Amino acid sequence: MIFLGKARLFSFLVMSHFVVKFCIGGDVITSTEYIQDPGSITSSGGLYRMGFFSPNGSANRYVGIWYNNVPTYNVLWVANRDNPILDSSGVLTISDDGNLVIMNGKREILWSSNVSNSVTDAQAQLSDSGNLSLLKQSSNSSANNPETLWESFQDMTDSFLQKMKLSTNSGTNEKQALTSWKSPSDPSIGSFSASLDLRNIPELFIRNGSSLYWRSGPWNGNIFIGVPKMQSVYINGFNLVDDHEGKVYLTYSFAETSYLSYLLLKSNGDLVQPYLDQNSSSWGIVWSSRESHCDVYGQCGPFGICNANKSPICSCLRGFEPKNSEEWSRGNWSSGCIRKSLLQCNGTTNGSSTAGTKDGFLKLEMMKVPNSGIFYSTLEDECPGNCSINCSCVAYAYDPGVGCMFWIGDLIDLQKFSVGGTNLYVRLAHSELDDKGHLREIIAPIVIIGTLTVTIATWFARRKAKKRALKESMEKHLSSGETPSAMLGQNMSRVEFPEFVRYKIEELAAATGNFGENNKLGRGGFGPVYKGRLPNGQEIAIKRLSRASGQGHQEFMNEMVVICKVQHRNLVRLLGCCVEGDEKMLIYEFMPNKSLDTFLFDPLKRVHLDWRTRFNIVDGICRGLLYLHRDSRLKIIHRDLKASNILLDEELNPKISDFGMARIFGGNENQANTRRIVGTYGYMAPEYAMEGRFSEKSDVFSFGTLLLEIISGRQNTSFHEEDQCLSLLGLAWKLWNEDNGLALVDPNIPVTCFGMELLRCINVGLLCTQERAKDRPSISIVISMINSEIVDLPRPKQPAFTARRTTQDTDSSGQSQKTCSANDVTLTVLHGR
Ligand SMILES: *[C@@H]1O[C@H](CO)[C@@H](O)[C@H](O)[C@H]1NC(C)=O
Ligand SMILES: *[C@@H]1O[C@H](CO)[C@@H](O)[C@H](O)[C@H]1NC(C)=O
Ligand SMILES: *[C@@H]1O[C@H](CO)[C@@H](O)[C@H](O)[C@H]1NC(C)=O
Ligand SMILES: *[C@@H]1O[C@H](CO)[C@@H](O)[C@H](O)[C@H]1NC(C)=O
Ligand SMILES: *[C@@H]1O[C@H](CO)[C@@H](O)[C@H](O)[C@H]1NC(C)=O
Ligand SMILES: *[C@@H]1O[C@H](CO)[C@@H](O)[C@H](O)[C@H]1NC(C)=O
Ligand SMILES: *[C@@H]1O[C@H](CO)[C@@H](O)[C@H](O)[C@H]1NC(C)=O
Ligand SMILES: *[C@@H]1O[C@H](CO)[C@@H](O)[C@H](O)[C@H]1NC(C)=O
Ligand SMILES: *[C@@H]1O[C@H](CO)[C@@H](O)[C@H](O)[C@H]1NC(C)=O
Ligand SMILES: *[C@@H]1O[C@H](CO)[C@@H](O)[C@H](O)[C@H]1NC(C)=O
Ligand SMILES: *[C@@H]1O[C@H](CO)[C@@H](O)[C@H](O)[C@H]1NC(C)=O
Repeated sequence: MIFLGKARLFSFLVMSHFVVKFCIGGDVITSTEYIQDPGSITSSGGLYRMGFFSPNGSANRYVGIWYNNVPTYNVLWVANRDNPILDSSGVLTISDDGNLVIMNGKREILWSSNVSNSVTDAQAQLSDSGNLSLLKQSSNSSANNPETLWESFQDMTDSFLQKMKLSTNSGTNEKQALTSWKSPSDPSIGSFSASLDLRNIPELFIRNGSSLYWRSGPWNGNIFIGVPKMQSVYINGFNLVDDHEGKVYLTYSFAETSYLSYLLLKSNGDLVQPYLDQNSSSWGIVWSSRESHCDVYGQCGPFGICNANKSPICSCLRGFEPKNSEEWSRGNWSSGCIRKSLLQCNGTTNGSSTAGTKDGFLKLEMMKVPNSGIFYSTLEDECPGNCSINCSCVAYAYDPGVGCMFWIGDLIDLQKFSVGGTNLYVRLAHSELDDKGHLREIIAPIVIIGTLTVTIATWFARRKAKKRALKESMEKHLSSGETPSAMLGQNMSRVEFPEFVRYKIEELAAATGNFGENNKLGRGGFGPVYKGRLPNGQEIAIKRLSRASGQGHQEFMNEMVVICKVQHRNLVRLLGCCVEGDEKMLIYEFMPNKSLDTFLFDPLKRVHLDWRTRFNIVDGICRGLLYLHRDSRLKIIHRDLKASNILLDEELNPKISDFGMARIFGGNENQANTRRIVGTYGYMAPEYAMEGRFSEKSDVFSFGTLLLEIISGRQNTSFHEEDQCLSLLGLAWKLWNEDNGLALVDPNIPVTCFGMELLRCINVGLLCTQERAKDRPSISIVISMINSEIVDLPRPKQPAFTARRTTQDTDSSGQSQKTCSANDVTLTVLHGR
């Protein structure tokens, strides 16, 4: 790692001083192994280099970190950004007080890591993630796990690398920020900063000084919904993580390892994502926060809408006119627009409205939603009603990952996208709603159920509080014996709580003919399921849990209440439970059409499942799953998604069942009963099957298998092609590669009509079953994919559990057999975990 070898790549360095006085081979700096301008060190894997540099157009010397072996110069971190060395006398070393310091020729300290409790034998190390850390070597701390005193990843400048965490404290809103350079030749702190804002729905903001310059739109659990390009680059894993210790942070990983990529806040305020294909010699830009003038915050003022494809870019929303038409026509849009007609809501006090004068909602498609939305976790259908009952609510939107969002006051920073975006509904007076195609009348509320009281609190804090309140009330309930819904009435009106009933065992015995055999619907992994009829005529399904749950009574009840709160039209509704002695039973709504497998894998019934019905089922499963995955605190990983766990209502709408089981039975993988009951052969993701690691992506794997089953009408687990022992996944992959994907499709489906859609779904199925979890899309991406919102699907690689066909395999069936059974053996072993 001698610097000289790479010198030609760094012609921007001052060559004449090119004498490495204290040449160090390694990746560390200590008080004796220090570097002097123009020396440098590289990280152990050679990816990063740290040393002295001058920015383009400046003679000042700085210490920075940049990519090693990369033709163009990209400084990723600067130490003494506000305090340059004016000549080439700089030294980077460990000072007497144990800090990493930069000194000039007069031994003046220009920069210090400034850790107060450092030790004299500390050393600095540049790791292969680009993280420079000051480590405590002394005393006790073992060599492989030294204590970190300071790290450059915590002290970021303008670049955001993989594994960095851009965090914000959800309580105090104290933020870490990327800060721009002043100019390309001056690394000192410029006016732009980028940080995560949690006061509302989490959002990334760029500020110029203290004023907002750009916003990402709300985070919906997968993407920032104001960044339409984020949808198509699913392979770039941005994620927002709640560390459960008061901090929420943004991380980012770029899955494609043959590219270098990071995020950079440029001195002009643009956040960009440069990438370098390692074969090529120049950096490209994947994405930029400013693709047009519309991306500048509030470009068109309040109630103005920006469309980059129009000239002029700004216009007023329908029903609005420029506040200052003279300025507006001169292209000064800052004052925005005002309503032409007052809302009816403002004109009457008695609330009743005569037909024909009701306010309505104007639907705007593919929008960047305005700033400062308030969210409410309700279902999509309740969104318009929730907005219309409150006169202050001027617009609403719905995103499945957020819930209902609405806005009061001015609508600022509206943008019309040409791809992606969200539907936004803006409240207008009836007189402005002439085009019936676009209006959505306000449903006059017959009874005003609740008020729209949403505190402006953080996303995560709210959820935390909600859960805590729920738990507390539950504990109270358990001691008092009240039903939670009654008890919650007074102080918890904002938590929407379903009727939750504790049944008596006698009631259930009566309803099921004493749990008679002829009332038995089947047997699930958790125990038998019975059909029952309550005295009031209501039909119910009763799941009698096998006795060995790892949980105590109280935990079980707490968990029940949490699961009970989870409601979605694609999830089976839990009505209540019964806990007496050793007996634990769950009571669900009854589904007359039983489960998907009884249709799908029955040659006679399968005929009735046409493609539209199947697609509706697929879509419904996705939506139910998204609902389970979206909540970072209550997040539910199903862990046993399969055809028999998809129930069908009268209209064959799918409802996921058994979704709380993994939670109810405790997440501890070491518990014997958990090992026994969770997961089903053929649906388990490899990382789950082999290592017991589960995540949303393991559910996505199961979903992918299910999707291929729905398309083919064949069961993954019980099927063998005549000649080869291919699984359904193996067959799908083989046919896909032979460009014959449609041969997989159930012969009952006319491929001529739905060819493209079927191929798209097979493609998605293969993507969902990729070997590596990070190669699988998240469920929200799956929704966008199957609904063709993402047009270009990535090409799948070989899915998991497909017999790998090596060259020997092809010449004898015996060999091929061996490959298969090897695969089976692996799984059998796993199955026993
Ligand atoms: C340095 O600046 C000049 C002129 O501004 C530009 O042409 C050149 O590409 C820059 N070099 C680098 C390495 O950025
Ligand atoms: C170093 O830290 C001390 C207290 O921790 C602080 O007062 C001082 O301003 C810091 N100095 C620099 C240069 O950051
Ligand atoms: C930075 O590096 C240190 C030591 O190499 C390590 O302990 C720390 O976890 C790293 N930080 C990040 C964010 O990777
Ligand atoms: C030293 O190590 C021992 C055992 O590993 C530990 O109990 C003790 O707290 C350590 N002391 C310091 C100062 O880290
Ligand atoms: C940033 O703010 C400064 C000071 O308010 C202003 O002069 C400058 O024009 C702003 N920059 C941009 C790009 O808006
Ligand atoms: C880079 O080059 C190697 C060999 O020259 C080639 O195999 C590889 O596909 C290239 N990678 C990219 C991303 O172009
Ligand atoms: C734009 O219009 C507002 C009033 O609508 C005015 O105060 C402001 O000075 C104008 N800006 C420019 C640059 O003309
Ligand atoms: C109340 O509603 C009636 C029509 O239902 C309307 O005639 C009357 O003007 C309203 N009252 C007020 C104060 O607006
Ligand atoms: C939203 O509407 C639903 C159904 O009308 C209602 O149950 C719920 O309480 C409303 N939520 C709010 C916050 O008003
Ligand atoms: C109703 O009128 C008041 C003032 O008269 C105004 O401040 C408010 O924004 C109006 N509300 C709506 C929804 O237009
Ligand atoms: C309407 O919503 C706002 C914001 O959530 C709230 O402050 C206000 O009290 C609500 N008004 C009514 C009548 O519910």
